[in-house]
Amino acid sequence: MKRYFIHTFGCQMNVNDSLRMGEVLGKLDYRPTPVAEEADLIILNTCSIREKAEDKMLSALGRYRTVKLSRGTLLGVGGCVAQQEKDRLLKKVPYLDFVFGPDSIARLPEILQRVQDERERVVETAWVDSEEYVFPRADPETSRGKVTEFVTVMKGCDNVCSFCVVPHTRGREVSRAFPEVLGEVADLTRVGVREVTLIGQNVNSYRGGISFAQLLLRTAEVPGIERVRFTTSHPHDLSDELIEAFRLQPKIAPHFHLPVQSGSDPVLKRMRRDYTIEQYLERLEKLREARPGIAVTTDIIVGFPGETEEDFALTLALTEKVRYENQFSFIYSPRPKTGAALREKDWGAVPHEVKIERLERLQKMQRRISAEITSALVGQEVEVLVEGASRYNPLKRFGRTPENRTVNFDGDAPAGAMVKVLVEHTTPNQLSGKQTAMLMEPMVVPPPEVERPEFPQIVA
Ligand code: 5AD
Ligand code: SF4
Repeated sequence: MKRYFIHTFGCQMNVNDSLRMGEVLGKLDYRPTPVAEEADLIILNTCSIREKAEDKMLSALGRYRTVKLSRGTLLGVGGCVAQQEKDRLLKKVPYLDFVFGPDSIARLPEILQRVQDERERVVETAWVDSEEYVFPRADPETSRGKVTEFVTVMKGCDNVCSFCVVPHTRGREVSRAFPEVLGEVADLTRVGVREVTLIGQNVNSYRGGISFAQLLLRTAEVPGIERVRFTTSHPHDLSDELIEAFRLQPKIAPHFHLPVQSGSDPVLKRMRRDYTIEQYLERLEKLREARPGIAVTTDIIVGFPGETEEDFALTLALTEKVRYENQFSFIYSPRPKTGAALREKDWGAVPHEVKIERLERLQKMQRRISAEITSALVGQEVEVLVEGASRYNPLKRFGRTPENRTVNFDGDAPAGAMVKVLVEHTTPNQLSGKQTAMLMEPMVVPPPEVERPEFPQIVA
């Protein structure tokens, strides 16, 4: 029996792709190992959203070279860097055996066969567009024992945000037919899952036979599902219908990740984001009116080409005004072939020290706002879906509130239960307290029909 090791970089789409790779390899009689040094096959599932992510993967490759030299391990690179670099990566890294794009996961058996039997160095980075694309169906057994799970509903992105490499690495949007999505959600409930997050690069432009709002409503109606989440959304696709879904269906969790990227209209225009701050705020206001208390999070890029101190001050002002629950903020990083990278000289690159200084100011402001939001919850009871033991302290339990706030608490509720927790302490991004009531016992999950000793194991 052979062993594989997958090292995953980047977003949830990649984590999901790695799980699918594990399933394909399982059928080839490969088993996962958590130790790279014991693997017969090492795959790096890569991310190219920012330069740093790419650098991290190159240094990991260097480490795995030693494993290859000592035991003849096969070494492959998948994901976004693979799609972007194609055969250039084989030239750059002479000890690499194969390179495959996100659309070629199902072809892994054939790729491995060519590498092993024909001693070829293989590059498979063809796109599979629209009707021909078959979404790999997740094996529900992979999710047994988990309370919350991700379900892919679409791939790719048809937007042209000038900083973003995703349209180049993930191709055009393809949506998964809604009966398939609902079927996968139903399968997941049978192994104990109670919360699903529908994922895609741009989920609310979903076109799989029904609208995205309808898909959320139908998902929430699957028996056993208690909460539905989704990510990621583009503000210009935030339709009235989607807002209405929040009003209608309480199982759609009150959290919206709505990347704004900048608080300045001229910057947004150069980013090709297709909305103004006024329009963004109008959407948010409607959303908050439909679901009072909804937690809003966002992504921000600082130091986009041409960003002035005044532009940045508008980002700070927006942060204060919206009072985001949390922000993921990044320093602008020019990516190959993107509009902004090509125009950076014309618009004016922001010096690195200025970028760092702005990022620090923004993050400091956000930490204060997050702390204000969470500390106001001390003394209140919150509803928590229990996911298992706390990572920090195995004697404590861990779960999340509907707003996606993480909670570590004293209690005895098993994974899958819904409990009330009295909040006693908070940090900017975490609540802690004690269990005060059981709201819902976990589902009774029948054992698997066929015993499977190991499931895909992913190192992220
Ligand atoms: N530089 C910095 N941040 C980027 N993002 C996307 N591309 C870049 C880039 N070139 C950020 C955006 C996006 C998040 C996933 O990553 O904020 O929403
Ligand atoms: Fe990138 Fe914009 Fe598409 Fe998001 S919407 S993946 S930022 S191009």
